Amino acid sequence: MQNNLLGQFEEYLNQNTIQSKSFHPIFQDALNDMLKAGGKRFRPMLMLSVVNAIEPMLLKNTLHIALAIELLHTYSLIHDDLPAMDDASLRRGHPTLHKTYDEVTAILVGDALNTHSFNLIANSPLSADIRIELVKILSSDGGINGMIIGQAIDCYFENTTIELDKLEFLHIHKTAKLIAASLKMGAVIAGLDTKTQDDLYNFGIDIGLLFQIQDDIIDETMSEEEAGKTTANDESKNSFVNLLGLDGAINSANTLALKCEKSLNNFEDNLKDELLIILKSYLYRHK
Ligand code: IPE
Ligand code: IPE
Ligand code: MG
Ligand code: MG
Ligand code: MG
Repeated sequence: MQNNLLGQFEEYLNQNTIQSKSFHPIFQDALNDMLKAGGKRFRPMLMLSVVNAIEPMLLKNTLHIALAIELLHTYSLIHDDLPAMDDASLRRGHPTLHKTYDEVTAILVGDALNTHSFNLIANSPLSADIRIELVKILSSDGGINGMIIGQAIDCYFENTTIELDKLEFLHIHKTAKLIAASLKMGAVIAGLDTKTQDDLYNFGIDIGLLFQIQDDIIDETMSEEEAGKTTANDESKNSFVNLLGLDGAINSANTLALKCEKSLNNFEDNLKDELLIILKSYLYRHK
């Protein structure tokens, strides 16, 4: 990736271990366990790519915000894997946090990563106006009007089939909004006008939905070794594969991938080039 954005992010993450100083024997390690386990870093890369395309000089100060987004995402995965939710035992190629430690630790680490995410934004080297705007976006799209309501619907309607429009609402909220927010946060930091911010957000909703359709296809088609996480776990879920069948889900993914490629033309050349790299690295067209 250009300027090795992913490498810069990983280095920053490794140098900024989350600190919790106390006599608790394992909490500090538990806090960092899932962050250090890896992951694709899709959301931080989206945000950094926008900034890199428009204002590369701001990249260094943006790493704080990229880490904040990854913290919030990682908390959502730790809670998603708990027995009360998806009851998964493998994540990012490692045992899930409640397996390595216990449920209490996994719940509290999730809570801590969530709140610390906003602490990182509040303390980042950006103007106060921009920090407030970023807090608004992340708390909304990662919160009540975004990921949380999506997760709530996902779990509440287990074993109850919902219609396609509701299924899209579910997946837009649980996954696409945080992805869209990552692009918009990059646009805010880079000082892009509100129309471009909105265009990027809407593009993010499309790629986010595509990302979740792919995730549902992964659950159906990959072993847990290949995926690095528990698979064949969506049996009771309103997944795209369960509603449309595997071929139907693949067709939807391909149609959406074409739409995303076309909408790249809405963006100026630098941005288009960066986003194309993202599409090619993270979102594939299925055969
Ligand atoms: C998994 O997200 C959960 C979804 C919203 C699909 P990722 O596939 O980005 O997980 P990591 O961060 O790479 O582990
Ligand atoms: C989780 O979706 C989305 C989140 C907000 C964490 P999934 O339950 O499909 O994610 P995986 O398949 O466990 O990664
Ligand atoms: Mg889930
Ligand atoms: Mg899950
Ligand atoms: Mg899944």
